[in-house]
Amino acid sequence: MRFGVLTSGGDAPGMNATIRAVVRAGIANGDQVFGIYDGYRGLVEGKIVEFSRKDVSEILNKGGTILGTARLPEFKYEQVRALAVKQLIKHDIEALICIGGDGTYTGALRLHEMGIKTIGIPGTIDNDIASTDFTIGFSTALNTACDAIDKLRDTSSSHQRCSIIEVMGRHCGDLALYSGICCGAEYIITNETGLDKDDLLAKLKVNRLAGRKHAIVVISENMTDVYQLAKEVETYSGYECRATVLGYVQRGGAPTPEDRLLAARLGKYSVDLLHEGVTGVAVGVKKNELHYTPIEEALAMKNEPNEELHKLVLKIS
Ligand code: F6P
Repeated sequence: MRFGVLTSGGDAPGMNATIRAVVRAGIANGDQVFGIYDGYRGLVEGKIVEFSRKDVSEILNKGGTILGTARLPEFKYEQVRALAVKQLIKHDIEALICIGGDGTYTGALRLHEMGIKTIGIPGTIDNDIASTDFTIGFSTALNTACDAIDKLRDTSSSHQRCSIIEVMGRHCGDLALYSGICCGAEYIITNETGLDKDDLLAKLKVNRLAGRKHAIVVISENMTDVYQLAKEVETYSGYECRATVLGYVQRGGAPTPEDRLLAARLGKYSVDLLHEGVTGVAVGVKKNELHYTPIEEALAMKNEPNEELHKLVLKIS
């Protein structure tokens, strides 16, 4: 086969490991594999280069994506996608493996509808793709967030402060929930829990009166202005309070072994599926088993809140 691989949307640690797995699994099968630079934008512009095994050497442990990435809102227009299809026909490429999040999946679905065989691999730090238990990049971002929160705990404790830490996740609370549990946060605020300011302030006040010296609050992005929230905590809880937005540091760094393993498994699986004639699907893991879901269904699926972890937080925070 002759197929292409691209990364699109926000980058995630482990994207390089995925590219490597896809390229090497393809070449091992006797395929010709093409790297497409800068996501769908590069596809439209014809930034397409055939990759050898060696082109993906020394990238397994690197953050970011050697292919580059982009967000291309114009890809929703059929005329723009027609340019992409034209490029694929010109290079005699019959299939595409698209690594990214839901925006990437939408692009892959539209191309599939236009006759291109596509497979989506979940690569995003947000863990917000419901058709897989874990996305490539989530484990590394979680590690980064935990490392930062542990450090903030040190200074928070020395100064007897409350520390509010905003983590990424777009509209998914997993990074906040998992990092909050792993770092013993007193309070975790996500889309799933909602922000109950009165409850937060009351709990912090009780903690303070009980003599607890410091407090950690982990909150998902897009919930509220955390600097303003820190001022309110200072006014009502008795704690001095500082807010920290972790930001893009969560998107970088060497992928964890978990992300590398997931990348290798999903990369090879995608190539196998192409050879079996299965396309228009998103791959993933459920209960650690490889599986695939039609992309349309994957996009329609809602992330279910993790009841077990939410209950656990209520008991041990
Ligand atoms: O989807 C990954 C992500 O890092 C989100 O967590 C965040 O909301 C968003 O991307 C930021 O996007 P951009 O890189 O376009 O600022």
